[in-house]
Amino acid sequence: MKQIMKSKQNLFLSQKRKLQEAGCEDFKESIKFIFAKAYNVPLDHVYEPQNHEDLDKNDTLFLNMVNRRAAGEPVSHIIKSRSFWKNEFYIKETVLDPRPESELIVEITKDSLFSGMKVLDLGCGSGCIGLSLYHENPEIRLFLSDMSDKALNVAKKNADNLGFTYEFFHSNLFEKIKEKFDLIVTNLPYIEKKNFLILQKEIILYEPHEALYGGMSGIDIIKLFLRDVGKRLKKNGTFVIEFGEGQHTLLRQELLKFKFSNFDFHRDLNCIPRVVCVKNNT
Ligand SMILES: C[S@@+](CC[C@H](N)C(=O)[O-])C[C@H]1O[C@@H](n2cnc3c(N)ncnc32)[C@H](O)[C@@H]1O
Repeated sequence: MKQIMKSKQNLFLSQKRKLQEAGCEDFKESIKFIFAKAYNVPLDHVYEPQNHEDLDKNDTLFLNMVNRRAAGEPVSHIIKSRSFWKNEFYIKETVLDPRPESELIVEITKDSLFSGMKVLDLGCGSGCIGLSLYHENPEIRLFLSDMSDKALNVAKKNADNLGFTYEFFHSNLFEKIKEKFDLIVTNLPYIEKKNFLILQKEIILYEPHEALYGGMSGIDIIKLFLRDVGKRLKKNGTFVIEFGEGQHTLLRQELLKFKFSNFDFHRDLNCIPRVVCVKNNT
């Protein structure tokens, strides 16, 4: 074992193998991020082990991080960071690990942003969606809200790290929100009960359940959102919802039930409808 440890390259390879053997699907990516974090080297220098022979003091940290990953902890929790859209976000176990599919909300709304526009990111988690919109146009007036104060603290930290200006609400849906907005974006929990029970160990053990579980139908919380969103939108305002695979038919019915008729569904890179953009009728 000592022999193997002698070289940083061998250490890297042995730990990569460890992750692979532990069943970690993204073992190649994981080992790269963990190595970069543990030894404080840029990601694009990771594959130059000859440069890292003097980094011995961090071996314990590296091995410890690899063990956590092998046990199933998401890499973003271990390195406390995740890239989303055009920024790195601070991440911890109290927020959902931002998913690439949520970037679709940013993609489809970024060109509609204007100076002074009031934008609410409801259920903001890490703040990744709202803060990415602010990145696209710092002239908007950004509001972040979540019912979890722990999530809200992470969002505030991200906003402060990025030097972005924001206002916030600690609120269950619209309960404490009395303003009206031009744009409301939301990625509320949408995993239905039967799918929740069979989630990957990595998700069930390490991600906050209140960020994932969408009740019996999966869209129970989204339905409550739809009940009140009209009152919190300005005339000609828009709201955008991310939802789960296979939920668009159900969601279309709910939108019509709540008298929203002007909407477009958007598909993700796999051509699956994942986001709906709805214009206020009133
Ligand atoms: C799926 S996560 C999304 C987080 C973040 N927007 C993202 O895309 O990564 C859902 C978020 O909604 C929050 N949430 C769940 N139910 C809520 C409710 N009734 N009112 C406000 N926020 C809620 C959770 O705390 C969690 O942060």
